[in-house]
Formats: sequence, structure tokens, C-alpha cells
Amino acid sequence: MTDATATATADGKASAANPLRAGLQSDRIADPCSIVFFGASGDLFKRMLLPAMYSLRVRGILPNDFALVGVAATEWSDEEFRDYCKAQLDQFAPADQKPQGAIWDDFRRRLSYIGAQFGDAKSYGELAKQLAKNDADFGTQQNRLYYLSTPPPLFHTIIDNLKEADLNSHEGAEGWSRIVIEKPFGTDLDSARGLQSTVDRAFKESEVYRIDHFLGKEPVQDIMALRFANTIFEPVWNRNYVESVQITASEQLGVELRGGYYDNAGAMRDMIQNHVMNLLALVAMEPPTGPDADAIRSEKFKVLQAIEPPTWMQVPTMSARGQYGEGAINGKAVPAYRSEPDVRPDSNTETFAALKLFVENWRWAGVPFYLRSGKRLAKKTSEIAVTFKPIPHKIYGEATDTIEPNVLVMKIQPEEGVAMRFSAKVPGLKSHIRSVFMDFNYGSGFGVQSPPAYERLIGDAMRGDQTLFTRWDAVERAWEIVMPVLQVWQRTKDTSFPNYASGSQGPESAAKLFPGWRQL
Ligand code: BG6
Repeated sequence: MTDATATATADGKASAANPLRAGLQSDRIADPCSIVFFGASGDLFKRMLLPAMYSLRVRGILPNDFALVGVAATEWSDEEFRDYCKAQLDQFAPADQKPQGAIWDDFRRRLSYIGAQFGDAKSYGELAKQLAKNDADFGTQQNRLYYLSTPPPLFHTIIDNLKEADLNSHEGAEGWSRIVIEKPFGTDLDSARGLQSTVDRAFKESEVYRIDHFLGKEPVQDIMALRFANTIFEPVWNRNYVESVQITASEQLGVELRGGYYDNAGAMRDMIQNHVMNLLALVAMEPPTGPDADAIRSEKFKVLQAIEPPTWMQVPTMSARGQYGEGAINGKAVPAYRSEPDVRPDSNTETFAALKLFVENWRWAGVPFYLRSGKRLAKKTSEIAVTFKPIPHKIYGEATDTIEPNVLVMKIQPEEGVAMRFSAKVPGLKSHIRSVFMDFNYGSGFGVQSPPAYERLIGDAMRGDQTLFTRWDAVERAWEIVMPVLQVWQRTKDTSFPNYASGSQGPESAAKLFPGWRQL
């Protein structure tokens, strides 16, 4: 039995047990290809990318004819790299996907490694040779997927060198070449445009996959299904019925060991400009003309185009920033941001950012969208909450009852599901009204655990599906929207920092911006 049939059988069993999964077809297998990971000695590779690749293999989603090339500065032989990969999978792969048996033996022999100086043309010559060898040994058919997971300053160098070595765009030739680019795509509008011109010189937009791992999260994909595979939401999804929309991406974690990167980034660059903007676009977009990548990405872009970036003068009333002080997370004392490793002791970097934006179009004119993201907050939660207008006239409920508006919550993590708040009568002789929730959970509903985001996204890039990757026009527009805020924040030191305790709801200034935030 091949691995692919094993997967299908496993799915078959699950469908018999759970009627919600009946009739599901297994995923389409990607073309044969070599996938090249630049930065293969780094943290992202060992924790996320390698386990995702192996899981795709175990689940029978990788093509049979594939090969993986690791490229990094460390000096390793192929055998040393293979041993390294085994050790990382032993540590980071889920319990049922540890490297063993025939699947691991086959995966292992398809791994190779190039110890490279990223700026040295010789390394790309070696890469070209390895790719040709993969075509001969493993039938990878001149298809190449490059994955850039190095520190971002190296992106230019790698792309330029791929072009010099003629490993870039393959249009018209045998096989395809695609490139996956990790975030951050630039550190501001100018640097993003600079990176894009480098990309443009070597690849066509149809070959570029700008990754935003939030888009690979199953409940994020479900935002479109909820909106466009149901009739009841769209008629009320507009300024006539919606009072406000709030999007939250909060974390309990601090900066961990990434202080060096984070202290030059901050919450607006790290989370709002990419992940949160993508959520906003999905929740506010018009129905696309069809399911294809560009129909969807065009609608998402139009939402961002309709957002007027705040002027410098508006920044104080349209945004809030914060930085965590010491406090407690789950009862454990944690240090202030300024005491974290590699963070400047007088840092002005925000670890919390909130924004109020308006989508100035026919559907949304006048409806505020509140976005917030921060580290070391009370709870890890990513969600979108759509609050509907209050009832126009109260005819029911006791005089003391407040009738709260309906809220639809799309829960992305850690819970995955959809909840709807509505008013119900409390049983009894009196006519008291209380708010209650209808709650759907994807995990228990469908009896599955969502695959990790990276698995979905790598699989899509290998299949050539760009739907869940951000198009350049949207990246550029998202930078345009946040730039005035970044500029004002950079020029004015926030003397209140640290202005929220670790484990709290965030800074007072966020509550002033919008008193209606949902409790974390
Ligand atoms: C990353 C940010 O993009 O997303 C991190 O750089 C953040 O700072 C992470 O912690 C959050 O992702 P997730 O999937 O854990 O919500």
C-alpha cells in the first residue's frame, strides 16, 4: 500500500466516524519538484518548515518525486545535514510523525545540503549542480521552489544571485521556478519597494509567494466560507447593521530570544502591517467573482485601497501604543520588555499597537475597524468580532435589563470556531433578558485537528496556488496605511513606557481609543 492510499484510508475511517467529513477528497498532489530552503540551519526551519515537509510526506501530500536542498552558512556534509534533520524531527515533529521506518529512509535520501556564502556566486553554481542531480536522480523535472527563511537583509543577495546563476524565472523553459519569501517584506514602505524591485528583476508576480502564516490557519480560511457559503450573513454585513469590527491578535509570550529583531520592529510592523491587515481585508472584502487566487486577492486589495491612511495629525486619536512592564503570566513573574535580552534599556519600541481605521466604500462608510495586537497580554487570542447595531426600540426584558447587541466572533486561535451572541429570555415568570452564545468549534465539529499553517502554505506553493499568499499591491498598500503611525511613533518618545503590566489588558490609551474592546 502506498502512503497516499494509507492517507485516503485514514480519511475514509474518519468520515465513517464523523458524518461532517463524509465524502471529503484527499488533497491534490503537487508537481514533482526540488524545494530549496535558504536558512536551513535556522530556527524556523527546524521548528516549523522541516516538520511541515515531513508531515506532508507522511500524509502522502508531497509528490513522490521530490527532493529537499538545505542551504546555510554552517559547514555540513549531506550526511551531517541528514542527521541534523533527524534530530530536529525527533524533537519537533508531533508524536505520530517521528522519523522512522521506510518513509523516513526514503525522505532522508532525498535531503542534500550546500554550505554557502550567500553572496558568493560559487555557492549558486553548486546549487545548480545539485538541482540538476535531483532532476536526474529523483525525477524533479526542473521544477524548483526556493524558500527564503534567512534574516531579511539577505533576501536581496540571494535573489540577485539566483538570477545571476540563471536559476530564477523559468517562463518558456522546461519546468517552473517559484520563490517563497518570509515576512517581514521590508521594514517600511521604501525598503519594501526596494525589495520588490529586486524581486521584479528576477521573478514574475505569478512566481512569488509572500508568506503570511496567519493565512494558512484553517479558521482564517473559514472567514470566506462563513461569509460566502451562507446566505444569512451577507445581507447584514454592512454599515446598515454593523456598529463596529474589532480584530485582536494578542499573545502571552514576550519577545523571547528575538529581542534583536523585535526592538527594531515593534508590534505595528511585526503583526498589524501583515497578519492583522490580512484579517481585515478578508472580513471586509466584496464577494470575489470566483475562487481563483487573483479574484480573491483583487478584492482584498480593494479593501486596503479604500482605507485612508491617518494623517500625522490624526495619529494620536486613531492609534494607541504600549510597552509591557513586569508582571505575571499564569501566576509566574515575568520581566519588563526593557530587561529582555538584546533590547535597549531605554527602548521606545511598542509591544502593543492599536489602530482605528475606516474602510471608505459603499458597504463600510462610517463603520470603525479597531485593530490591536500585543505581547505579554492576559490571554493568547486571535479573533474577529463583528458587533451589530443595538435594537432600535426595547419592548422586552425587565426595566433593569440591558439588551446587549449581537456579536459574531470568528475565533482563530487558540479556540477555532464561530460564536454568536444573542439575547434570550431567562426561564421563569419574569421576562428577564440575558446574552447567550451559540458556539461552533471546528475541532469537535469536524473531528479533526487543523494542520499547521506552514504545512498548508508549503503544499499550496508546491501546487502553484497563490490564494493564501499576499500580492505585492496589498503589501505596499498595507505599508502606506501604517507608515504615518510609524513615523510619528518613531519621532516622539513615549515617556509613559512601560505603560502596561505583563498579564494585563494592555495600556490605558487603548481603552481610551475604544472602550468596547472584548475582555482578554
Ligand atoms: C509572527 C511574529 O509573525 O507571528 C511573532 O513575528 C508572533 O512575533 C507570531 O509571536 C504569532 O504567531 P502565532 O501563530 O503564534 O499566533
